Amino acid sequence: MINLEHVAMEYLPGHEILHDVSMTLERNSFHFLTGASGAGKSTLLSLLSFQIRATKGRISMFGEDVTGLDREHMPKLRRRVGIVLQDYRLLEHMTIAENVALPLRVAGESQEVIEAKVEELLDWVGLTGHHDSRPAILSGGQKQRAAIARAVITKPDVLLADEPTGNLDSELALRFMYLFEALNKMGTTVLLATHDEHLISLFNYPVLRLQDGKILK
Ligand SMILES: Nc1ncnc2c1ncn2[C@@H]1O[C@H](COP(=O)(O)OP(=O)(O)O)[C@@H](O)[C@H]1O
Ligand SMILES: [Mg+2]
Repeated sequence: MINLEHVAMEYLPGHEILHDVSMTLERNSFHFLTGASGAGKSTLLSLLSFQIRATKGRISMFGEDVTGLDREHMPKLRRRVGIVLQDYRLLEHMTIAENVALPLRVAGESQEVIEAKVEELLDWVGLTGHHDSRPAILSGGQKQRAAIARAVITKPDVLLADEPTGNLDSELALRFMYLFEALNKMGTTVLLATHDEHLISLFNYPVLRLQDGKILK
């Protein structure tokens, strides 16, 4: 489903963050991605969500070479990828409900379906009371929950989650892990970046470990 071959990435010329990353995520798999702070976890997820481009190597997703994907073809693939970013990226001028609804709007869903799904998801993440709130008044943990709701509302083929439980207490973190597991059981391929070794130890999923710009074998 996702395949990286000898991928390198540098933000500044001559300063490679990822040197030689090769990995395969099989369809319907669940992997943790870990490594020290600054190891390049977020960079790797940015590559897989088409926010930045690899400087070397090849990336394929859904059987297509996406290494040099042009803007025209990006939206179609992006719609299949749900992403929870470390900094949430909620749109400040929209309400929480509008933020969560965004992927469904982009996909052209009917108003009726959108309203029902948004209610269901807000309820699930415990933000029912914040339907009409702007992101600015929410706590970090609440924003994180809204970002998770937005990422999973379309039941994407791939879920990329960057430290999705970083701002949540351990009980809520586990609840979201069970949500990600449930999505995975329904067919979503999950890649979850975290530096939380304890969280990783609670589950039996394979761990991809980034060190010195490579995935440790
Ligand atoms: N936009 C950027 N421009 C320049 N350097 C960056 C940028 N984003 C991240 N970096 C650098 O890339 C390295 C890896 O960062 P990151 O991928 O965020 O690691 P992690 O998520 O594992 O903590 C760090 O040294 C960071 O400073
Ligand atoms: Mg990071």
